[in-house]
This record gives sequence, C-alpha cells and structure tokens, in this order.
Amino acid sequence: MQASLSMGDRPENFAMIVPAAPPKARNMDSYYAYRQDSDLVYLTGFMEPDAVLVLVPGRSAGQSILFCRERCADLERWDGEMLGPERAPAKLGVDDAFPVADIDDILPNLIDGRARLYFHFGRDPEFDLRVLNWINRLRVQRAQGAKAPESIIALNHLLGDMRLFKSKAELALLRQAASIAASAHQRAMRATRPGVTENQLEAELLHSFRSEGAVSAYEPTVAGGSNACIFHYRANRAVLNDGELVLIDAGCEVDCYASDITRTFPVNGRFTAVQAELYDIVLSAQNAAIKAARVGRAWGDVHSAARDEIIRGLLHVGLLQGDLSGAVQSLSYRRYFPHKTGHWLGLDVHDVGDYHIEGNSRVLELGMVMTVEPGIYIDAHDQQAPTALRGIGIRIEDEIVIEASGAKLLTASAPRTRADIEAWMQGASPAALNQQRGVFAANDDAQTRFGNLER
Ligand code: GLY
Ligand code: MN
Ligand code: MN
Repeated sequence: MQASLSMGDRPENFAMIVPAAPPKARNMDSYYAYRQDSDLVYLTGFMEPDAVLVLVPGRSAGQSILFCRERCADLERWDGEMLGPERAPAKLGVDDAFPVADIDDILPNLIDGRARLYFHFGRDPEFDLRVLNWINRLRVQRAQGAKAPESIIALNHLLGDMRLFKSKAELALLRQAASIAASAHQRAMRATRPGVTENQLEAELLHSFRSEGAVSAYEPTVAGGSNACIFHYRANRAVLNDGELVLIDAGCEVDCYASDITRTFPVNGRFTAVQAELYDIVLSAQNAAIKAARVGRAWGDVHSAARDEIIRGLLHVGLLQGDLSGAVQSLSYRRYFPHKTGHWLGLDVHDVGDYHIEGNSRVLELGMVMTVEPGIYIDAHDQQAPTALRGIGIRIEDEIVIEASGAKLLTASAPRTRADIEAWMQGASPAALNQQRGVFAANDDAQTRFGNLER
C-alpha cells in the first residue's frame, strides 16, 4: 500500500531496466534461433531483439517505456515485419515507446533522481557497460542538478518470485506446451522398434513440435540402452536394439513457455521382468513424490518422498544393502539416483524462483508449477550391480501444478504406466489407456507399487 511506504520507498525512487536478449552469432553472419529474454517476455510479451523496457513508477508522462527498433522497409525485407514504437503501446500495453536508436539521449533522463535501479547486472557484459555509461552521464551532470542512482539492485530474486506463481494465462500456455510435448512422446513411442535410430525418434519429436507451431525447449535426449545413464546425452545417433529400453527427455515451448517430459520404454514394446521391476520402483517413487506435492508441504518433502521410495526399491532388488535410514544418511543411494526430483517450470525449463527461504525448504503454494522426475541409473560397468541390471537407465518426468485439491498432472496424456506404454505401442486408442486425468488420486499407485511382481 502506498500509504505504508516510507519516504525512501516512494515509487519515484525506483527504476527498472530489462533489456531484450542479445542475438547470438553461430558463425559469420549466421545466428542461433533468437530466443527472447524470459523476463522481457513476462513483462511485455515482446519477442523482438534490440529492445529495452524501462519502468519508472510514479512518472506522470508514462511509467512503462519500451525502446524498440524503428520500422525500416530495407531491414524488414531481410528479417520480416517489426512492431515499431508507434504500434508498441497499443499492442503491448506499455505507456510509451521510443526508437531504440535514441536510447542514449532519453534513458539517462528517465532514471535521473531515482535512487535505486533494478537491473540484471552481470547477465550481459556489453549491456552492463551501457548502463554504467548512462549512470556516469548523470554523475558528471551533478552540477546541473542531475542525480545518478546510488544503488543497483539485482532483479533476479524479485522477478523470480513473481514468475514462480503462474497466472491463468500462463497456465494455459504451459498446458498447451505440455499437451504438444505429450503428443510428441506418444508419436515417438509409436515409431519405436528395433533398428530405428535415436535421431529418427528425435525427428518424430521435432515433427510434432513444429507441426503445432512449438519449438524445442531444450535439445532433446533420445538415449537407447546404456546411453540413458548419461544424464545430458545429446548425441542422439545410435541404433536402438531389441531388448533394450530407450529414454526420451523432450519438451517444447509455446510463446516461450516450456514443457519438460521424460519417458522410458522398451524398444520392442514389451518390458522384460528386470526392466519392469526397476521401472515400477521409479514410477512408485514418482507417485509418492506427486502425492507429497501439495499446499503447505515443503519443496524438499517432494524429493524425500521420491528418494525414500527409490531406496526401498533398491534395497528390495539388492542394489543397496542395509536399511532406509542408513542409506539416507550415507547417501549410498546417490550411486543410482544422483539428481534431485524436480525443478520449477515456466518460461525457463529450470525456472526462476527460490527453492529455499532463509535456509528452509520453500513451502508449496497454489499456482506453482514443477517437474517430478525421479530415476535409477545403473552404469554399464558397475561391478557392484548384478549383470542383468547393468546399463539400465530409467527416468519418468511429469509436470504438475499445485492446486487446492492436490497436484494436477499437466502431462498425463503421455503414457506413463507400463500397461499404458505397452498398450499404446501396440496401437491402443488414447481412450483405452488408464492414464490419470485430473487431480492425482491417492490410490493411483496401488497397481504399480513394486515388490509384488513376478520376477
Ligand atoms: N530436460 C531437463 C530436465 O529434465 O531438467
Ligand atoms: Mn526436468
Ligand atoms: Mn527433462
């Protein structure tokens, strides 16, 4: 509330600068696909490079100002239509817009007298220098009454906390990205058989993404056999062999909002008994983690729930010795489950937002979106593991949104249980699958809990 602000906290004491992402050259004059800075997308929805958003609260002539490229027929002939400052206010909802070519003349005046400047210092050294130049310009004009900002404050934490809680519009985009990625996984599963290559499955994923207007949110991992034990496997060029599993970690972006799904399934469409046993440990761990993800529970509880279930499973199959608390204490389970169970998801695949508040694991709240992705990876050369288990890597990754009634799966249409995966690979219709839709039910894992399988 305005009334509770002290004089030092008056809106007129603040300014914020958020630049567009710089284009990145791949070589010579070829560029990587342009991806806008997530904060600028969040604040404006503007997707063009060479732009700067300035927020100057309390300024009567306009509080939100965008600097962007002026329209130019010659440039548009090469790179396509630009929005231009004339159309920016109506299109983006900013108060005013100016040509970015004029920013050196205009920006120092905008931040003149604002004691605190919020800015991502250190993200782009070239832009840092420009900001320092603007500040120095005000410093040297001190005698004329100019007042440079006294402090530059990191923006990460504040914007990160806003971005962590998703609005309805953001959730709609995340749902769309999740649904396209789930269809891509369905398509890749159907295309899988012995002799197909990892890159051919990658092509199926990309076909799905691009057909729906989405782009990859990250380079997909398509990892057959023991390649699945390499967490960021990207080579994607091996042949898939009969009797092995394949792990696919792939997600897409819709208007820069990401999805992130992993499925692990048999190349020939049927899990072996050994694969089934390990798969159900991971699934059971994922179910336990999803159930732990509810309002009021701590972020760390989600990982602990998955970790404990993984440990129980590893003890059951003899990959770990001792008991649960011993394994938790000694960290022996990390030999097979070395990563955390998930991360926030949003504009960034590993989205912004603090995981700890004052040293404590963050409490989950409505509107947070996260992945839940436990796994078991047994190195092909692990002398401690029975030969039959070596070279198996399994991860199952889904996305959930925290709702009042529990965690809601955004990615349920990608077949997840063994029965659904096998049915889908044999051509079952989506309606014939058992996959959960809606809020995660407490007894969903009754069929999948490990330990009662035939070996
Ligand atoms: N695809 C990256 C991750 O799962 O975190
Ligand atoms: Mn992930
Ligand atoms: Mn992933």
